[in-house]
Amino acid sequence: MTRRVPALVLAAVVVPFVMTASAAAAEVTFSKDIAPIFQAKCQECHQPNSIAPMSLITYQEARPWAKAIRERVITRQMPPWHIDRSVGVQKFKNDMSLTDEQVDKIIGWVDAGAPEGNPKDLPPPKPLVTDNEWKGVRDGYGPPDLIIRSPEYVMSAQHQDVWFRTMSDIPLAEPRWAKMVEIRPTSLKGRRTLHHSVAYLVLNNDPDAINKGTANGPDRFRDGDDLVNRRPQLMEWAIGKGYDLFRPDTGRLLLPGEKIAWDQHIHAVGEEIATGSEIGIWLYKKGEEPKKRSYLIAFTGIRNGRSLDIPPNTLAMTEGFTVLKENAVLENFQPHFHLRGKSMQVEAILPDGSSQIVSYVGNFNFNWMTNYIYADDAAPVFPKGTVIHVSAWYDNTRANKNNPDPDQWVGYGDRTVDEMAHAWINVVYLNDQEYNALLAERKTKNAKETDAGN
Ligand code: HEC
Repeated sequence: MTRRVPALVLAAVVVPFVMTASAAAAEVTFSKDIAPIFQAKCQECHQPNSIAPMSLITYQEARPWAKAIRERVITRQMPPWHIDRSVGVQKFKNDMSLTDEQVDKIIGWVDAGAPEGNPKDLPPPKPLVTDNEWKGVRDGYGPPDLIIRSPEYVMSAQHQDVWFRTMSDIPLAEPRWAKMVEIRPTSLKGRRTLHHSVAYLVLNNDPDAINKGTANGPDRFRDGDDLVNRRPQLMEWAIGKGYDLFRPDTGRLLLPGEKIAWDQHIHAVGEEIATGSEIGIWLYKKGEEPKKRSYLIAFTGIRNGRSLDIPPNTLAMTEGFTVLKENAVLENFQPHFHLRGKSMQVEAILPDGSSQIVSYVGNFNFNWMTNYIYADDAAPVFPKGTVIHVSAWYDNTRANKNNPDPDQWVGYGDRTVDEMAHAWINVVYLNDQEYNALLAERKTKNAKETDAGN
């Protein structure tokens, strides 16, 4: 009773504030309000033997981290979904972020002293993830139809970076289309040491599989990056990434006899670890084959390819321009940097001179090459001649927690301590008829939604 007295005194002056504050403080407890949020958005990684440093299952486990949780949640570092919420496309297929309401609840809970509440209010526990799960399975797409595995490489505790390149057969007797692909390291431990893994397709004779729809201007053809873009890739994976899910009626075609050429970048982490990669492929059913190919493209964030010069203890910025030679739908955005990466923005400059921000990640974190997959009706569509302008910012100062040595000069290179910048985007090209049809479809849909809103 005595606790209530000050509130009653204050109530005369600021009734609404005191009412809501005390109501919220009385209500938000770990057992009733926070545990369900942690189950839905955190425990997948924050459980014993998974990739996160601590478990967030019981109150006893979570309580010591309350302050850190508040900080990570308010800055939207956790869950690792870092796309800016104020510009660009905002509808995604794989959004794992907290809602504003969930963020408020967590903050309210911490600010009220992180009370446990009544353990009887706890939701039933969620089964633990005991294996190196497929994110596609986690998200309800079922197990992959096909799994292709690379050999493993034993990385010493201390060593220079290694690029482990091997080939695997694709065990198919007939042409099949992939509607979703996911690469994962071959073990949970491998998730610590495998930085990236690209599965290139080694073609029999399939010129259509080679991307011809973008170019960066004549001098770019002398540069390795365009070779990367023209070699068809089944998928690129990097630390923290999940799957690629193609739009309805689009996908990647696999032909009997083709092979996968793996390009796996492995770095030493102070412990000997054996790792390789495996790719899970979810196939379109026979008779439901899509009409369109989706091409994976690395849109460069560095003009003239590889000229990158980041002095010690500085911030730096570069930009790259890529012309779309065909009308195109962009299916996703996955920023790629190494340790000094800070921010990346993708902007489209249209032939009519107008421009729009497609996506922006302001607080990139090297541990999280999160793939932001646009919702089908939100995936941006651009006419041929549009310039995709990628801006990249680097932080080579002490303020960047991932920076191993801010006193070092950093240049372009493949090692984790070197730097690079590009936006991985799956692109579907449309002929004029398809392009106009899609624009018309979107227009009708928008009009309907506006009507419905009235
Ligand atoms: C996809 C996996 C994943 C999800 C989902 C996730 N985390 Fe994390 N979390 C990690 C990993 C890995 C780290 C350590 C690396 C890092 O800091 O990025 C981490 C670090 C943290 C830290 C910092 C710990 C320290 O050492 O200071 C906090 C706090 C945290 N997470 C809270 C949360 C909360 C709260 C949620 C849910 C709202 C959440 N995380 C969701 C994987 C995840």
